[in-house]
Amino acid sequence: MNSIRSIKNLKGKTVLLRADFNVPIQNGKVRDMFRIKKALPTIEFLHKKGARVIIVSHAGDDGAQSLAPVAKVLSKFVPVIASTKTMLSKEEVGALAKNAIVLLENIRKEDGEKKNTPAFAKKLASMADIYVNDAFSVSHRTHASIVGVPKYLPSYAGLQFEAEIKNLKIVLEKPAHPFLFILGGAKFETKAPLIKKFLKTADAVFISGALANNFFKSAGYEVGASLVEEKDFGFGAMLTNKKLLLPIDVTTLSGSEHIVKTLAHVLPNDKIMDIGPESVKLLKPIISDAKLVLWNGPTGVYELGFDKQTKAILKLLANEKAKTIIGGGDTVEMVNELKLEDKFTFVSTGGGATLDYLAKGTLPGIKALK
Ligand code: 3PG
Repeated sequence: MNSIRSIKNLKGKTVLLRADFNVPIQNGKVRDMFRIKKALPTIEFLHKKGARVIIVSHAGDDGAQSLAPVAKVLSKFVPVIASTKTMLSKEEVGALAKNAIVLLENIRKEDGEKKNTPAFAKKLASMADIYVNDAFSVSHRTHASIVGVPKYLPSYAGLQFEAEIKNLKIVLEKPAHPFLFILGGAKFETKAPLIKKFLKTADAVFISGALANNFFKSAGYEVGASLVEEKDFGFGAMLTNKKLLLPIDVTTLSGSEHIVKTLAHVLPNDKIMDIGPESVKLLKPIISDAKLVLWNGPTGVYELGFDKQTKAILKLLANEKAKTIIGGGDTVEMVNELKLEDKFTFVSTGGGATLDYLAKGTLPGIKALK
């Protein structure tokens, strides 16, 4: 992959920058600025070198969300013009100041984006001289602005994109040991292969979130009305693996009460919503010994208020010397809420993209830049 640092002359050039401003927006306001802040170094780099920067992003899945709230936040850091259009004509681009920064409207309003039609990708590319991808977190998608445009323009990776690969590569290629992998959340399909993979390369794999419910069920425990995936991912066969660590207590929603209990006490009407404090204690010495900790996905249903144990582990990790690499939108939102970002070696902007990269060692958006 070529880095934007290797571009000889940016002065007077128009750059199409794919960023990922798919950020939580509530009542028209951006709730978490993490991804926006992480895009700033690349925007500033291109701007200072004299390029005209046209930023393309999506927000939400279906194109309904406007990027205007993002433009408002962005304008606090860089002189950005918020366009109401998803694309500009050559004349409109030409009329812009030589080093203007423009944020176009949500690209998913356009049918050709997800479908990656060549005509649409070509049209996007026709706005610029150079394409830069700084949207690692959406580079697992084969969309026009990720894999289509680079077919028509000299293409480069942005600074955050590079940082993502550099840090996640360490985990895949030369992890320091002892290496602890903490996995939470509920994306069974994407996460199951990661469990298998890291049971081979890590020294300990701690399973939490809804994923753990499937393991509890395989081990013969009552899981009540908890979220479990019916499909068999072969978790049963992993139960005897000495590297596999499961929570020893859970927090249940029992009626309207939150109750901490051991696995043996879970009742048929209980819903397991988080791990319990004893499980965090179990992890404590393992975290202290670890030289590398990779964590993806919260331990509980944090959006319903079951965030206590995830936060407890984040605080534990923040005080350790181990290399700490954290990913997954929900976990990262909590990192920011606790203002702990600086305490970790690397906080990934990716959710699904990080998982896919860890599973496959590449992404469509990476291949498209080569
Ligand atoms: C993300 O938040 O994971 C990325 O922005 C990708 O979004 P998507 O899942 O809607 O493609």
